[in-house]
Amino acid sequence: MASSLRFVFLHLVVVVVFSAANAQMPGFVSIDCGGTEKYVDDIGLEWAPDTQFIFGETAKVSIPNESRRQYATLRYFPANERKYCYTFNVTTRTRYLIRASFLYGNFDNSSVFPQFDLYIGASHWSTIVIYDENKIISKEMIMLASSPTISVCLSNATTGQPFISTLELRLFNGSLYYTEYEAEFFLSLSARINFGAQSTDSVRYPDDPFDRIWESDSIRKPNYLVDVDPGTTNVSTNMAIDVNLNERPPQKVMQTAVVGQNGTLTYRLNLEGFPGCGWAFSYFAEIEDLNPTETRRFKLFIPGMADVSKPTVDVEENAPGKYRLYEPGYYNISLPFVFSFAFVKTNDSSRGPILNALEIYKYLPINFGSQDASVMASFVSHYPFADLAQEGGDPCLPAPWSWVQCSSDPQPKIVSIMLSGKNLTGNIPLELTRLSGLVELWLNNNNLTSSIPNFSGCLNLRIIHLENNQLAGSLPSSLTDLPSLTELYVQNNMLSGVVPRGLLDKKIVFNYTGNMYLRKERNARTDIVIVLCSVLGAALFVGAILCYYLLAHKKIKFFSEEDDLTKVLPPTKLISSFSELGTETAHRYTLSYLEEATGNFAKRIGSGGFGIVYYGKTKDGKEIAVKVLLNDSYQGTRQFKNEVSLLSRIHHRNLVAFLGYCQQEGKNILVYEFMHNGTLKEHLHAQEKHFGWIKRLEIAEDSARGIEYLHTGCTPTIIHRDLKTSNILLDKNMRAKVSDFGLSKPAVEDSHVSSMVRGTLGYLDPEYYTSQQLTEKSDVYSFGIILLELISGKEPISGTSFGEKFRNIGPWAKFYYESGNIEAIVDPLLQGTYNDIQSIWKIAETAVRCLKQDISLRPSTSEVLKEIQDALALERAPTCEKTEKSFAPALSIDAKYADDSILGSPTGSLGYPELR
Ligand SMILES: *[C@@H]1O[C@H](CO)[C@@H](O)[C@H](O)[C@H]1NC(C)=O
Ligand SMILES: *[C@@H]1O[C@H](CO)[C@@H](O)[C@H](O)[C@H]1NC(C)=O
Ligand SMILES: *[C@@H]1O[C@H](CO)[C@@H](O)[C@H](O)[C@H]1NC(C)=O
Ligand SMILES: *[C@@H]1O[C@H](CO)[C@@H](O)[C@H](O)[C@H]1NC(C)=O
Ligand SMILES: *[C@@H]1O[C@H](CO)[C@@H](O)[C@H](O)[C@H]1NC(C)=O
Ligand SMILES: *[C@@H]1O[C@H](CO)[C@@H](O)[C@H](O)[C@H]1NC(C)=O
Ligand SMILES: *[C@@H]1O[C@H](CO)[C@@H](O)[C@H](O)[C@H]1NC(C)=O
Repeated sequence: MASSLRFVFLHLVVVVVFSAANAQMPGFVSIDCGGTEKYVDDIGLEWAPDTQFIFGETAKVSIPNESRRQYATLRYFPANERKYCYTFNVTTRTRYLIRASFLYGNFDNSSVFPQFDLYIGASHWSTIVIYDENKIISKEMIMLASSPTISVCLSNATTGQPFISTLELRLFNGSLYYTEYEAEFFLSLSARINFGAQSTDSVRYPDDPFDRIWESDSIRKPNYLVDVDPGTTNVSTNMAIDVNLNERPPQKVMQTAVVGQNGTLTYRLNLEGFPGCGWAFSYFAEIEDLNPTETRRFKLFIPGMADVSKPTVDVEENAPGKYRLYEPGYYNISLPFVFSFAFVKTNDSSRGPILNALEIYKYLPINFGSQDASVMASFVSHYPFADLAQEGGDPCLPAPWSWVQCSSDPQPKIVSIMLSGKNLTGNIPLELTRLSGLVELWLNNNNLTSSIPNFSGCLNLRIIHLENNQLAGSLPSSLTDLPSLTELYVQNNMLSGVVPRGLLDKKIVFNYTGNMYLRKERNARTDIVIVLCSVLGAALFVGAILCYYLLAHKKIKFFSEEDDLTKVLPPTKLISSFSELGTETAHRYTLSYLEEATGNFAKRIGSGGFGIVYYGKTKDGKEIAVKVLLNDSYQGTRQFKNEVSLLSRIHHRNLVAFLGYCQQEGKNILVYEFMHNGTLKEHLHAQEKHFGWIKRLEIAEDSARGIEYLHTGCTPTIIHRDLKTSNILLDKNMRAKVSDFGLSKPAVEDSHVSSMVRGTLGYLDPEYYTSQQLTEKSDVYSFGIILLELISGKEPISGTSFGEKFRNIGPWAKFYYESGNIEAIVDPLLQGTYNDIQSIWKIAETAVRCLKQDISLRPSTSEVLKEIQDALALERAPTCEKTEKSFAPALSIDAKYADDSILGSPTGSLGYPELR
């Protein structure tokens, strides 16, 4: 997914060349609703039936003059409270065109024209109103996919029965139809017109590689392209037109145009969905042969919008040369429902205006849907084949799934789960414990096994039905803490242990009969077991104390040996001991030298793993960081050996350089290069020092390079084990280096290293913590946390900054990432410092992958590094807006519609951003 995105951005040229050569585009899905088999139609599109769809009925229709097979069938649904959804797998953060069409054809012989609503996920797309049984109604939108699936849902029939004839999905390349509002708005098509068309046929696939449908301007329908100026004539060419890489629009559309022979082009059309804010672009190319003295200059006029008349269009000048696309437009313009516009030639122009094509979309606000949407998506993924998982769309909006009830908030929560007798097997999915608004839970009469999970996060839980399953384990005492609990049914399971006192004391309806091993009170036998356990425990305790004593004793001896190695060991032994330490390349400092350099350890600059770091400056003016290890721990000494041997072997420009060591008078000291700009942590979380997004990406890149070297450039592999923002240091030039290998340890080559779990809370990989199996992927986990800190500016753990539901940065960020709301996690201080939100998406996606529970799903450091570099490339590339010309920004002028400048005082072309 991520790699295809990278491919699109970095290799746009290649992709387009391929697409021109290939016949069938990938990323096309065409569903013939109610159809029975696959087939390829006349224009080469491959249609698939929706036979796997479990809801609704199919019907056949037949109308005069419509021979296309996809319109011969449809699927219809009962007119009830439910919604009926088609779900597509998509690639997130990619733009798609979605087209749904409806041909009623009186399929139900009732001649009641249906009216119902069309939704994308939880967002209202359109209300379908049938007013002619033989007319195809088609709706089209462009959207950025923010989750791995897109659902198109039909609901809320007010008359007749909801139905659908076709559903099409088309994948766009690269930045085509990018808008800066795309995270919050869909683009719903109002007009896409091919001017000067030579027939009433639309232009679409294969002439348009993305299968957009460009309607002919000669189609006659009510209030569509009326008030046409009498001097309007069609022109066309067979010459190739340079339409840019984007093909917005395709060549065939640009090869025809209308020209206002008498100096003006005027049109009026109804814009469906408007008034409102929209996206509107016009497309021009000079396709007539003007002689060198002739000019074609004109201005746009829209009644009541003087600003749009300010710039002059001169196609040959704006898109230098003939047969080239020039596409001025507005990313955000307010338009009326009845839209009149004119292109009028200027006085100094010898030719009238030209217009090849036009596209207008309305911005439709995205409804982010239920707060529990991602949790529920995860829940139903446990039952991929069950009916309950087939409903699709948002669990609550526009209508709830048949087995849930939702609160009435604008962003609803699930309040009730009703899955009695649904033949569920396996564990009670933990997702249910994350439904913070849950009031009733009905899971009775299934085949659920395993134990009852901890529901203490569901503070509103009132009624719990778990009876008649095969639940085992004990009744968790956390049930006692549910403040609203009034009914608890667990009878006829295989629960064991003791009923928590608290549950019996509570004034609730509580039935736990039929659990053979569940007891009310402790009996004598358990008492004996407990006494036995206590005795055993005590014995173990004494043993532990003995062990500790022995170890401590040994530690003292170890120290005295090492203090005076030269005296105790014979020369040969000494050498092998040194090479074991790997110190042969490390410089050995004397204590007095370091005392002088640090002014007797006067300036403390930090405390890292197992030691305090002091600032020093050597006689030759070199600044150093001197880390004095805390000596009174056995770990400290082993640490020291570990560090010296590791550090002397590792050299990389993104790792803090190790300069030498000192071992004297019982002190273990490591000497590093001094890093002038402190830790990343200070910069991220301190008040004054702040980095913009590019700087943060560079820091991420530097650190990832350092870690990649540890993981792949060292033999054996080195696992850092304590990556965190306070271990990423910044040098004079603000380049980042990774520090503190105090917890590093060479990994044994082909096996996991099991060792004492160490690390820092908030960064520690929970998988490593539970399995104690150390791999590079634990560093990847910690690095994922660091990436999230870079995005959000928040510390990894906080009681306050992640809202009520979360304490840790990981689940918090994942929640918003999965719900498509990246803005919610972006550090407000980053506002205005990034060019393209996609680069933040990319890093967020990478971070979320780094935190995957299944370590095999986590990326390698090299992959992470690549993603960071791609994000940097996105940021450094010019943004879409800068690469597309648009009408100059509105200036404050009070010109009236049709003031004298309209008919053209020589103005020249005003303020166009020059591109090529
Ligand atoms: C159907 O096509 C025929 C011949 O092409 C034409 O005469 C007739 O008007 C058309 N009917 C409709 C409803 O378009
Ligand atoms: C959609 O994705 C899911 C999960 O990856 C997969 O199980 C399913 O088969 C896919 N469906 C289609 C139609 O490709
Ligand atoms: C259903 O449609 C009617 C009429 O179009 C509308 O008033 C109502 O709000 C809609 N209900 C829902 C739940 O969308
Ligand atoms: C447009 O120009 C043509 C010839 O140049 C002329 O015959 C016609 O009357 C003009 N129409 C209008 C509406 O000015
Ligand atoms: C549970 O599973 C067993 C065997 O798989 C089956 O016989 C029984 O009917 C199931 N019970 C329920 C309530 O579905
Ligand atoms: C319940 O599930 C089992 C196993 O999946 C299946 O064999 C059985 O037929 C199902 N029973 C019902 C009533 O759906
Ligand atoms: C508890 O459940 C069992 C089995 O469903 C039932 O027979 C019994 O009457 C219930 N007890 C109470 C107090 O409701």
